[in-house]
Amino acid sequence: MPFFTSVLNQFPEHSLKVRTINKDRQRQCFIVHRKPQAPHWQEESAHEIKNDEISRVIETPEGYIVKYIKQRTWHDNLRIFFGASKISAELRSCIFLQNIGLRVPTVLEYGMAFIPGHLWGVTGYYLMEKHPAVDIVKHHFRHCNQTARQRILTQLIRDLQRLRDACCVYRDLSFRNMMTNDNGELFWIDTNIRRYSKASDQFIADWNKTLKVLLQELSMMSEPAEHDGQRAIQALML
Ligand SMILES: Nc1ncnc2c1ncn2[C@@H]1O[C@H](COP(=O)(O)OP(=O)(O)OP(=O)(O)O)[C@@H](O)[C@H]1O
Ligand SMILES: [Mg+2]
Repeated sequence: MPFFTSVLNQFPEHSLKVRTINKDRQRQCFIVHRKPQAPHWQEESAHEIKNDEISRVIETPEGYIVKYIKQRTWHDNLRIFFGASKISAELRSCIFLQNIGLRVPTVLEYGMAFIPGHLWGVTGYYLMEKHPAVDIVKHHFRHCNQTARQRILTQLIRDLQRLRDACCVYRDLSFRNMMTNDNGELFWIDTNIRRYSKASDQFIADWNKTLKVLLQELSMMSEPAEHDGQRAIQALML
């Protein structure tokens, strides 16, 4: 199964099994890789994943998070065979970001569909630990106090510096994809990065573009007291 290897390398202690979701109706089989500590969990019924959804995130009754990602085009199906599906990209990104010191969810299990796009169109899923966060930063920022907001921004700047040093761009850099708790600790989700071999012109252009989007979002969320944070993000531009 060459198409799994790129991710498999990151899961050295995995066990391999087949999981069937929706045994009665629109059955779909997955090749599943599990870490020894992965919990047993109940699958979501397929019919609850709506047609117009690309991905769906659910919390299992045991308190873990499952993210399903559907294929959109035949292109996406082909990507699976090159280890370049969205699932593989998110898993690899997660491991890379953890290595450079960002707080990302620990992935315990992932599954790839046997027949990609078959029936209800889920390409794969991964099961991760739930962040000890109360909400996404986009929502929480308005409600927490200024000290917590400052703490979030300080960590954001530290994490952005790490990303910049590693020459990688967070593809969907947004306060929607960061979570925080009452102490203002920063956790990242929806990990999908693009890595560059060096600080090339392409890296600089993409890096600046994502920071501009983030600054625009911050300007709509923040008050004058947060202008220091905005300036610090601006200073990270290349
Ligand atoms: N590890 C996690 N711990 C706690 N909550 C999580 C975790 N991962 C995802 N979530 C919750 O699920 C929601 C969607 O997650 P995610 O951003 O990965 O999916 P998405 O389909 O890309 O959503 P969107 O398009 O809104 O960005 C998040 O806003 C968050 O509330
Ligand atoms: Mg997201």
